Amino acid sequence: MKPAPFKLEQWFARYEFAVRLNMAASCAPATTVAEILALGGPGAREEYLRLNLDYIPSTGSERLREAVAGWYRRIGAGGVQVTTGASEAIFILMNVLLEPGDIIVVEDPVYQSLYAVAESIGVRVKKWPLRPENRFRPDVDELERLLGPGVRAVVVNHPHNPTGAMLSTEDQRRLVELADRFGFWLVSDEVYRGTVYDERDVLPPAADFGGRAVSIGDMTKPFGLGGLRIGWIASGDAGLLRRVRDFRDYTTMCSNAAGEFLAAIVLEHRDKVLESKTALARANLRMLSKFIAEHDGVLSWVPPAAGFTAFPRLYLNVDVESFSAGLAREESVLILPGTVFGVPDRFRLGFGMAERRFSDGLDALRRHLARVSP
Ligand SMILES: Cc1ncc(COP(=O)(O)O)c(C=O)c1O
Repeated sequence: MKPAPFKLEQWFARYEFAVRLNMAASCAPATTVAEILALGGPGAREEYLRLNLDYIPSTGSERLREAVAGWYRRIGAGGVQVTTGASEAIFILMNVLLEPGDIIVVEDPVYQSLYAVAESIGVRVKKWPLRPENRFRPDVDELERLLGPGVRAVVVNHPHNPTGAMLSTEDQRRLVELADRFGFWLVSDEVYRGTVYDERDVLPPAADFGGRAVSIGDMTKPFGLGGLRIGWIASGDAGLLRRVRDFRDYTTMCSNAAGEFLAAIVLEHRDKVLESKTALARANLRMLSKFIAEHDGVLSWVPPAAGFTAFPRLYLNVDVESFSAGLAREESVLILPGTVFGVPDRFRLGFGMAERRFSDGLDALRRHLARVSP
């Protein structure tokens, strides 16, 4: 069976490059090659220009794997498999871990590939609801009721897209224990790692717990480097990584040398880059908070604890897809209707951008809300 059409990507394909302002994205503000080479210090530019663009090792270059491993406590370079974005990491992991007839439990709402790839393999997907009344945090007691024979994997994503919700460290420990007890893989999509707004919400990566916990990371979200197409799988299970590598021989074989070179520099200066990206987002979040308060009765939200997206609820008597299409048409500003996540009364609003642009986008949204309000 082929994977179902990717609703989010189809929305982007329609509008992303036609609008003047994209407030639908989930990434940090984009980073330029010049910024990265400046971070790399003297010699980085020359090294980049002399880079040989031949094939590179299928596992990822040693330098990049070391730099990724530096973000984990218990994973060394040997526990890192570089991939072409987290997209390839998800595709390969699902194919390697799952067989037709298996069951997986996945948070809902969630990024579509985290369940659609499994469905295309003939896997049954059980949804684990994230509820606004629980601040979109998963309820592990509820998960226990969904577990049973045939459950091969539980898939989580924190910081969460689209709500920005976190999982507590205590709940994460419970998930790891359940994975051991029930014998399922804990697949933890952590692509928004490094973007938490309150220190108390910071979560260790699942792979650091060892056993059946696998982490997925990328350069796209926290560092604004979607164009590099660099992601990874981190795991303490050498057998799993071998199977991943064997499968990758049929997908992309290896990543691109230029992307790996630039990604390694950014990870080697990780804290500095993250600090500048999240500082911008924090300022935008304050602006958004005022905006939502101003629109009491029309909008409500659960403020995101992390990431670069909020998922406000729209109370107007208009369907959220036409509302979003209207905003694109009238103001050339893009938001993402919640329908792509199966949530018909919310939309995703990205705030990973320069403050002036964000304020401009909120002005457009204000005008549009006034236009469609009764
Ligand atoms: C939760 C999640 N996982 C994975 C991805 C894929 O990211 P990429 O392939 O750019 O690394 C995305 C992109 O939006 C995402 O939101």
